[in-house]
Amino acid sequence: MTEPKKPAEFFNPSQEILIDANLKDYAATYDRSIKDREGFWAEEAAHLDWFKPWDKVLDDSQKPFYKWFTGGKINIVHNAVDRHVKTWKRNKLALIWEGEPGDSKTYSYHALNREVCKFAAVLKSMGVKKGEIVTIYMPQIPELAIAMLACAKIGAAHSVVYGGFSFEALGSRIADAKSRVVLTADGGYRRGKVIDLKGIVNEALKQAPTVEVCITVKRTGHAVVMESDRDYWLHDLMSLPLTNFACETEVMDAEDPLFILYTSGTTGSPKGLVHTHGGYGVYTASTLRNVFDLKERDRYWCTADPGWITGHSYLVYGPLINGATVMMYEGAPNHPYPNRWWQMIEKYGITILYTSPTAIRGLMRFGEQWPARHNLSELRLLGSVGEPINPEAWRWYHRVIGGGRCPIMDTWWQTETGGFVITPLPTTPLKPGSATKPYFGHEVGIVDDQGKDLPAGQEGNLVLKAPWPGMARTILGDPDRYKQVYWSQYEKQGWYKAGDSARCDADGYYWIIGRTDDVIKVAGHRLGTAEIESALVSHPDVAEAAVVGIPHEVKGNAIYAFVILKAKKVGSPELAAALIEHVSKHLGAIAKPEKVEFPEILPKTRSGKIMRRVLKAKLMGQDVGDVSTLEE
Ligand code: WT7
Repeated sequence: MTEPKKPAEFFNPSQEILIDANLKDYAATYDRSIKDREGFWAEEAAHLDWFKPWDKVLDDSQKPFYKWFTGGKINIVHNAVDRHVKTWKRNKLALIWEGEPGDSKTYSYHALNREVCKFAAVLKSMGVKKGEIVTIYMPQIPELAIAMLACAKIGAAHSVVYGGFSFEALGSRIADAKSRVVLTADGGYRRGKVIDLKGIVNEALKQAPTVEVCITVKRTGHAVVMESDRDYWLHDLMSLPLTNFACETEVMDAEDPLFILYTSGTTGSPKGLVHTHGGYGVYTASTLRNVFDLKERDRYWCTADPGWITGHSYLVYGPLINGATVMMYEGAPNHPYPNRWWQMIEKYGITILYTSPTAIRGLMRFGEQWPARHNLSELRLLGSVGEPINPEAWRWYHRVIGGGRCPIMDTWWQTETGGFVITPLPTTPLKPGSATKPYFGHEVGIVDDQGKDLPAGQEGNLVLKAPWPGMARTILGDPDRYKQVYWSQYEKQGWYKAGDSARCDADGYYWIIGRTDDVIKVAGHRLGTAEIESALVSHPDVAEAAVVGIPHEVKGNAIYAFVILKAKKVGSPELAAALIEHVSKHLGAIAKPEKVEFPEILPKTRSGKIMRRVLKAKLMGQDVGDVSTLEE
C-alpha cells in the first residue's frame, strides 16, 4: 500500500527456512526462467502426469490467444486425485473440513476419489456430457470441491457462483453459461443462521430456461421447495441402483476448458473467464509448491471460498495436485467468538495459513487476547491475497499470528492470471506491504499510458510482458471483449494490461496501489461499479446512480452510492436504507453500499460519462483535479 517513509525495512527469512525451502535461489531460477521460458515451464509441467506429452510448450501463432502444451493429453483430476490413490498417499488426508456449527469431516485421498467417482457417475447418469458447463452454487462444504472435481473428471466445465450472490446474479450467470444442470445445497450456515440457498436457486431458475436438472446436497435439513420434474436430492441419486460407481477419468486436450469463472470488469455484465486443464494445472501446482513450500508434514489452510479464484486455484486444484492436506471451513471467522480461526489452527495443527488482509484487519480489531488463548506454534508460513495489505496489519499478522517467525507471502494475482504473479518465496527478504518480486517466467512492467517504462518509484500501469500457462484463454462467448479489455491498450507491444496501478522501488520490489478501472475491491471481493449501479437503477424510484469505492479501515474499500431520483421522489434516510436492502437482494450482501446520498446532479463529461473520480475526490476532501471535460 503506502511505502514506509523510513529507509527500506527488510524482514529476513529465518535460517531454518533458508535451509529447508524447496527452492533457495530465486535470482538464478528467475534468470533461467526468463532466458528459457519454455524450458522452465516444460520442467514444471513434468511434475504432472500426462496421458500424452505435449508437442509444443507455447503456441503463440494467434496472439493474444496463446495456447500452452498443445497436443498434450491430460486431466487435472487425474493429477489431483487419481494418481495419488495409486501411491501411499491414498491413506493421507486430502481434506479436513469443519462446519460452522462445529461438525467436521475428513477425507483421505482414497475417500475423496470414491466421492468424486460417485458424484461423477451421478452426473453422467443425468446426461452430463464432455464440454457442457455445469453451474455450482454451494456453501463451503466438501461437496463443493467434490462437485468441481466430478465435473472436471468427466470433461464438463464447471462454473462456480459464489454462494453469497443473489438470485439475479446467479440467474444471469447460469443463462450466460447456458447450463443444463445446476448443483446446489439446501443451505449453509453463516453466523449461526441458515442461508436458504435452494430458495435462491429456485428464484434464479425462473430466469434461466436452459436448466433441466437441479441436484441438491442436504446440508441444513430445513424445508425447501423441490419441483418434481427438475429437482433431485444428491443422496437419493447416490442410492439409486446405478450399475456401478466406478467412473473413468476423461482424456482431455491440454487446452480444453476446465472451468468458467465470472468476474467483474470495467463495464457491463460480469465476464466468464475460461481456464484450461493443462496450463492452469501446471501453473497452480508450480506456484503453490514453490511459494508455500509444501511438504508432506504440512496442513495447509486457505480461508477463501471456492466461489472465487483463490478457492479454485489454492484450495482445490493447486493443493490437491501437490498431494497436500488442505483445510476448509464453512462459516464466519468470529463465530461464535473471535477465537474461532485460532482455535481451529491449534486443533488441526495448521502449518500454513493463506487469507486476506480484510480478514486480518477484522480479527485484529478484537485484540491479541483471542489468538493468545491458543497454541499457534505449528504455523510456519503465512499468506495474504486480494488487496494491498497495509504495513500495520502485516506487522500484526507477522508478530501475533506468526510469532515473528513465519514469513508472509503477499501474493498479487487476479482471476485472469489463474495464479500468483508477483509474490515472495519463503527465502525472499520481505518489506511489509510489498508483494515483492515476479514469479518465474514473468516480466512485469510499470508503464505509462503509451507503454513507456517508468523509472523506479514512479506509479504507473502494471503490465505483464510475456504469456504464462495459467492465463485465462478468453471470455466465454466473447473473444473480442477479451482482446479489447486486456490486450488492446498495449497491442503494439503485445502486453497484458492488469488494470492495476503500481510502482517498483529501487530494490526491484513491487508495491500495488489499486485498480485503475471501475472495479471496487470490497473485503477482497471484486465488484464492478456497473453491476451495483444497475442494481440501484432497477429500483422503481431511481433514475440514475453512480457508485465509488472509498477507503475503509477493515474492508479496504466501502461502496458509496450517489442516486438521482425520479421526478417527484424525495430522498430520505428510509429510502436510503431501502436502496441498500435492494442492492443486497438483487446482487448480494457483499455489494451493499455503506452510504447512499441524493445529490441534485451527477458530474458528467460533455459526452455524458459520469466522472466517478470527481465524486470520489469530493468525498475524500481532495482536490478534484482536472475537470476541464466536466459539463456541469
Ligand atoms: C485484483 C484481482 C487473486 C485472487 C483474489 C483476487 C487485487 C489481489 C493483491 C495483493 C494488492 C491485490 C488487485 C487485482 N489484488 N491480490 N496481494 N496486493 N492487490 O482476485 O478478484 O480477480 O481481483 O485484486 O487489484 O487486480 P480478483
